[in-house]
Amino acid sequence: MTAIHIQGLGTYVPAKRITNDDLASRVDTSDEWIVSRTGIKARHMLADDENGSDAGVKAALLALEDAGLEPGDITHVLTATCTPDYLCPSTACILSGKLGTHGAMAFDLNAACTGFVYGLDVARGLLAGNPDAKILLVGSEAFTRRMNWNDRTTCILFGDGAAAVVLTDGDAGTPRACLPSAARLRDVQCGADGRQYPLLTVGGGTARNYRPGDPVQDDFYLQMQGREVFKLAVRSLSSVCAQLLERNGLSLDDVDLFIPHQANLRIIEAVGDRLKLGADKVFVNLDEYGNTSAASIPLGIGDACRQGRIRAGSRVLISAFGGGFTWGAALLEF
Ligand code: ACO
Repeated sequence: MTAIHIQGLGTYVPAKRITNDDLASRVDTSDEWIVSRTGIKARHMLADDENGSDAGVKAALLALEDAGLEPGDITHVLTATCTPDYLCPSTACILSGKLGTHGAMAFDLNAACTGFVYGLDVARGLLAGNPDAKILLVGSEAFTRRMNWNDRTTCILFGDGAAAVVLTDGDAGTPRACLPSAARLRDVQCGADGRQYPLLTVGGGTARNYRPGDPVQDDFYLQMQGREVFKLAVRSLSSVCAQLLERNGLSLDDVDLFIPHQANLRIIEAVGDRLKLGADKVFVNLDEYGNTSAASIPLGIGDACRQGRIRAGSRVLISAFGGGFTWGAALLEF
């Protein structure tokens, strides 16, 4: 029986910090509007000479250090991203070249903001087939590269960041830097409804037939029907959490901390209300990072560990939703 564990975790957020007041000098918005509608106060932005793969490498090195492993020990590199460096090659290949995991299988996984949770499910399957595997799962996003900085309804919401975990079969002992203990992946559940794909798109793919010299159109950038996404997000997060707990014979009383995808504080509060979770059990760090998509949940796990809100023995529920429309939840036992 496979007992998948997160054996190490590392996070990276770029130094450049964009406040709401900075954005208010570019578009017609205000700190008061952004905080009251979203809870976001700041977001971080990659430097001009830094890519999503660079951010991923920085997080991955810290995750390997936490796990006590070297790049050469890794057998699989999965990058969860919907803002890859290129359409081809994968960010996972670029990242593995920079990191030195030569020979390890490497591929990207695009489930938008649910990418990290999807990655756990994929890693579970890979480890079931190969218990000796040592899997590096990296959530890395460069969303500020696909923001339309003239669109106040979207440019306020997203930020850049990366976080990585090392997954192994079995508990290899106490991690060295970030995690208080290895975390057993008790269960994970994912889903999607592709009929809803127009609600959130990020361009740059081949759907539009660009010819050399054509100017980019608005659909090159992130476009979103915010209100519809909001409603679907509350419904899907609440139901996937309830289903996952039920099939594990658990209730929310058995959960020590809930780390939801960090998109909007009002979505998080609405889900907390539906699940009847006290605010003290709900982790929030979007005030500082905004929505970092596939990096959001592992960034949250890292911050929760550093703040002492996750300890050895904690049971943590994570849950995400994203473009696609995708959703997922997982139970981690530290
Ligand atoms: N500053 C000031 N006013 C604004 C801003 C802004 N930044 N943005 C919108 N407004 C205005 C609108 O123009 C509108 O004005 P009007 O009434 O004169 O037309 C008014 O505020 C209300 O706009 P709404 O879009 O209805 O505002 P809402 O309360 O729905 O909040 C928001 C918008 C924050 C985008 C919200 O809908 C939301 O968070 N949705 C979910 C987004 C999300 O979670 N996305 C992540 C998806 S995950 C992934 O895969 C990437």
